[in-house]
Amino acid sequence: MEHSLPLDTLLDALAGPGWCVLPQAFAPDQVAALRATCLERHQDGQFHPAGVGAKTPSLRSEIRGDHIRWIEQADPDPAVQTYLAAMDDLRQGVNQAFYLGLHELEAHFAVYPQGSGYKRHLDRFRDDDRRTLTAIVYLNQDWADDDGGMLHFWPDPAGTGEAITIPPRGGTLVTFLSDRFWHEVAPARRQRLALTGWFKRR
Ligand code: OGA
Ligand code: MN
Repeated sequence: MEHSLPLDTLLDALAGPGWCVLPQAFAPDQVAALRATCLERHQDGQFHPAGVGAKTPSLRSEIRGDHIRWIEQADPDPAVQTYLAAMDDLRQGVNQAFYLGLHELEAHFAVYPQGSGYKRHLDRFRDDDRRTLTAIVYLNQDWADDDGGMLHFWPDPAGTGEAITIPPRGGTLVTFLSDRFWHEVAPARRQRLALTGWFKRR
């Protein structure tokens, strides 16, 4: 499968406000293939409850209720390989434009059970500041506004002012500088799927 992220748009947005929302960044057939892989692995018991913090993650389901399954670079799934190739093009484009020195991606599938969310937070850990750029791809089919599960995102780095509301529609890519923007996942009325990655500096 081919991928064709609009790199110029992405780089302009990252150079400017530092964040970008691209609906339909991934084609429906690719989203469907990633969703199938995600659900298959979930049914297969390969997910575990996500923790909070980097070095010694603690389970705090009142803060974050998603279950995750990390992705290896050598993942045999073709849809995952296409995703990793797209992320690598993004990584190289960002490095050429901004000299950020992003050298690796850590990524996981996330399944939020009905009713769970993720309280307001920044993505850079206090005990590990290598996470630099966040990239979230939603894998949900036919997401309706009243399904909830919105990503609330504060464009003002102070974390004040109005949040914008981003529906987790299949194919949407949300990217932002990991240390800068507060965001929160509102509880959803149905299972909510995402594929979330962080580009790290050395
Ligand atoms: C995260 C996160 C947002 C989302 O995993 O750190 O903020 O919309 N996810 O799934
Ligand atoms: Mn986050």
